[in-house]
Amino acid sequence: MPRFRISLPSAMLVLGIESSCDECSAAVVADGREILAQVIASQDDLHAPHRGVVPELASRRHTELIVPVVTACLARAGTSMDDIEGVAATARPGLSGSLLVGLSYAKGLALARGLPFLGVDHIRAHLYAPHLHFRDDPKPEPEPTYPYLGLLASGGHTVIARVDSFDSVQVLGTTVDDACGEAFDKVAKHLGLGYPGGAALDALAETGDPWAFDFPDPVLGAGHRPFDLSYSGLKTAVANQREKFRRPDAEDSPANVAASFRRVAISMLVSRVRGALNEQGLHTLAVGGGVAANRLLRRELSAATQAGSLRAHVPPFSLCTDNGAMIAGLANGYLDRGDRSPWSLDVSSRVPVFRAVGG
Ligand code: KG4
Ligand code: ZN
Repeated sequence: MPRFRISLPSAMLVLGIESSCDECSAAVVADGREILAQVIASQDDLHAPHRGVVPELASRRHTELIVPVVTACLARAGTSMDDIEGVAATARPGLSGSLLVGLSYAKGLALARGLPFLGVDHIRAHLYAPHLHFRDDPKPEPEPTYPYLGLLASGGHTVIARVDSFDSVQVLGTTVDDACGEAFDKVAKHLGLGYPGGAALDALAETGDPWAFDFPDPVLGAGHRPFDLSYSGLKTAVANQREKFRRPDAEDSPANVAASFRRVAISMLVSRVRGALNEQGLHTLAVGGGVAANRLLRRELSAATQAGSLRAHVPPFSLCTDNGAMIAGLANGYLDRGDRSPWSLDVSSRVPVFRAVGG
């Protein structure tokens, strides 16, 4: 591959590694903004027969993939490790075995090359993703200006947060049980749509009647924040109590179930987001996670944008799902001001209480 000049001559180049679940990804990012290259190796084929991610298999596959993924990424970027000025990896939250592969590899690489190393928080990284663009994108979307509301809706997380800067994130609401994407996947499994079935369910929902079933949006009781949400009741209603919620003249067809489930699942997100925007006096929203691909969600966001009530930033799909670029991009801010993670940094499967260094 020919080497070429990096477009930002004095840019800091950070290598970011993401291995928190079932995507093994690496990216080289300049100045926390411009992606020189990104490689994402999906493991969907490995986990599909089990209809869910098998942690032991995921970590073993990361072990096989990590070197080829990083090597290919550096080559695609036209860089070598000699050009890299910092190495970052996801430290939390995620599957411990998967996280350990990326984090340990990143530490080893940084140690061997005498480079600064940073372990970062995966949720903060998702919320940072709208600041990134690909070097070869002729017309990158403008990045959001702080402060903004972040919505992360993925297979593993559902988080609504106020974002004041790359290192200042205040969580306003989360799911209290299943993640939004997880609920899509479980309902898809129930309808026999394969794994992960969120996209297939979304496509099927386009053909159904969203009002065929009046599924519930549960009101969460005391002890919960106003922007928390819950998917387990909706999932159970779809799986076990459909008849109770069916409009008498509506057919109990997979398309009608999919459309009705999707209407409620997405309206839960949209109603919490609207409430949080109002409460915080914000007009900008940045969306991340695989559910950002959802057609109904996108239609609702673009309608709100056109009505002038909202400015929604939805990055390209490869930056919405798990990716190395968001790790490198977020790490840039910390590394640039001299923050370093200790070599003893451990992984954590838990969603963090946000702290100062490295998230
Ligand atoms: O961000 P991501 O990679 O999740 C995690 O790794 O945690 O996104 C994958 C999730 C899956 O749950 C998938 O079913 C869901 O995003 N997803 C969708 C759509 N496309 C992907 N959910 C709803 N509608 C879609 N179009
Ligand atoms: Zn994620």
